[in-house]
Amino acid sequence: MTAQVLDGKAIAAAYRRDIRQAVQRRVSEALKPPGLAVVLVGDDAASEVYVNAKARDCRQVGFRSVVERIDATVTQDELEARILALNADPDIHGFLVQLPLPEHIDTNRIIDQIDPAKDVDGFHPHNIGRLALRRPALRSCTPMGVMLLLDRTGVDYYGAQATVIGASNHLGRPMGLELLQAGCTVTMTHKFTRDTDAAARQADILISAVGKPGLVQGDWIKPGAVVIDVGITRDERGKLHGDVDFDAAAKVAAWVTPVPGGVGPMTRVALLLNTLQAAGEVLDDG
Ligand code: GUN
Repeated sequence: MTAQVLDGKAIAAAYRRDIRQAVQRRVSEALKPPGLAVVLVGDDAASEVYVNAKARDCRQVGFRSVVERIDATVTQDELEARILALNADPDIHGFLVQLPLPEHIDTNRIIDQIDPAKDVDGFHPHNIGRLALRRPALRSCTPMGVMLLLDRTGVDYYGAQATVIGASNHLGRPMGLELLQAGCTVTMTHKFTRDTDAAARQADILISAVGKPGLVQGDWIKPGAVVIDVGITRDERGKLHGDVDFDAAAKVAAWVTPVPGGVGPMTRVALLLNTLQAAGEVLDDG
């Protein structure tokens, strides 16, 4: 079997065109464009790349985009004051604080300060709780982007066995909740799981969100499975690698995502969709 490749880059570009149209409609009705702010603390090189990409996406779809650069020496109280100011800013419909934060900052306390209605990362306990209780509001971007990709495969979620490798707060856990919400039977594996490979082999939908290149080999994959690679690791030469052995997976799976160009662009589209939603808009196709 040769898998079909889920082209996140192309699917994301189509979403951006639809989002741009929704923004144009809104602005033609004399409403403010959706406004997204990104708070960047310090000068982490990878964060800089992500934040610039998010600002570029905003410009492309006609959002107002604000990047707040804050010195790495900021105190917890000063940063919390910035969050409260963004909560109160009527031109900003959604915002996020780029992670990781410097070590002296308590990240959980920062996320807790974000108004859940503006939490376009979907990281606030309120929004994760809403998803857990089958009342999703603003959904975590990467798991939401993965669901938009899975929808394209036509996979039947009801009764499907889904395995999520990795149980982090921002990827694996909300990913498991999304799949449960969609009707899958979900297995989560994590660093204490003894037989991750066996759980992987059962999966009709296999999601790897670990950050360990080469973790998922061809013989971990059930023939005909949908394989989604959330892992992203940059090697010393700057090349990006997923968790999945792509060439091996392509011989066994029905669908597989590349890295780069699979989940990454869909994460960014989910951020735009969340910002649109926070501004009170919905796309025509739902
Ligand atoms: N750091 C890497 N990815 C992300 C993301 O999606 N959101 C935030 N806030 N920080 C990140």
